[in-house]
Amino acid sequence: MEVTRIGVVGLGAMGAGIAQVAVEAGFAVVGREVTDELGETAAARIGHFLTRKVEKGQRTQDERDAAVARLETTTDLAALADCDLVIEAIVEELDPKRALFAALERTCRADAVLATNTSALSVTEIAAATSSPGRIVGMHFFNPAPLMPLVEVVRAELSSDDAVETAVAVVAQFGKVAVPCHDTPGFVVNRVLIPLLNDCVRVLDEARVTPEALDAAMTNGAGWPMGPCTLVDLVGIDVHVHASEALYEKLREPRMAPPPRLVAMRNAGLLGRKSGRGFYAY
Ligand code: CAA
Repeated sequence: MEVTRIGVVGLGAMGAGIAQVAVEAGFAVVGREVTDELGETAAARIGHFLTRKVEKGQRTQDERDAAVARLETTTDLAALADCDLVIEAIVEELDPKRALFAALERTCRADAVLATNTSALSVTEIAAATSSPGRIVGMHFFNPAPLMPLVEVVRAELSSDDAVETAVAVVAQFGKVAVPCHDTPGFVVNRVLIPLLNDCVRVLDEARVTPEALDAAMTNGAGWPMGPCTLVDLVGIDVHVHASEALYEKLREPRMAPPPRLVAMRNAGLLGRKSGRGFYAY
């Protein structure tokens, strides 16, 4: 199906990043948040990053302004009624996502493709909250969405070929790399990355090294673009712990379980960059 209008539900760090990618690629975007203030914050964030591109000579002012003008924010789910594709990026919990997809099914056109950006929940379980699971797929972006090229396109048990092909085509129009895969816990990257990052956190205590030293080890010794502590701070310690718990619940492998040190940080409100403090202070 040809896509010209994209809805994004939830304009936090991931949703705003996805909306930015879509307006930069020329799509009309309707971004939905629960309050006007949150919508305005996301629009300002997108405007800021696009202004930086103008300042660095990567875009003209006209291109920036046209991209910003393609974004409309709303608090009303009904504003998504004309979208060809809706990408959900709300809180990473099953019940709210299932409720949202049931509402989207009532709101959107019958031929619209509905995608979830979930990183560790089952797309099949989300789709099962609707009576039209064929049009539901996963489109899993990586943080920060405007900078990371990969999008996993996740085929749930009942996803139609058309829905998967539509998502893959949109990822190509975004200028990103699609890796289609099946709906297994953690899909491809998080199945590998989450236990790896958990190992990194355990090594902090086992090898008695500081976060700075561990990050220096992995950037200089393994060629990582950023160290594991910097990365967990970027992803969000709450998000990482939640994804670890979801994978552990499904796979029962000890390495998937969140290290107690990370759980304690999450419980103390040390969530990384977004809270101003995680392994590092921001
Ligand atoms: N949104 C939009 N634009 C952004 C941004 C964001 N969140 N963050 C930065 N930018 C823009 C900025 O304008 C920035 O330029 P200025 O600082 O001059 O304004 C520009 O992008 C370049 O930023 P950086 O200089 O920080 O870019 P870099 O070359 O250092 O690369 C990186 C940054 C791509 C993030 C790189 O460090 C990297 O690849 N890190 C690894 C990230 C990673 O592994 N992500 C996956 C996390 S796991 C995940 O997401 C899965 C999950 O489900 C939880």
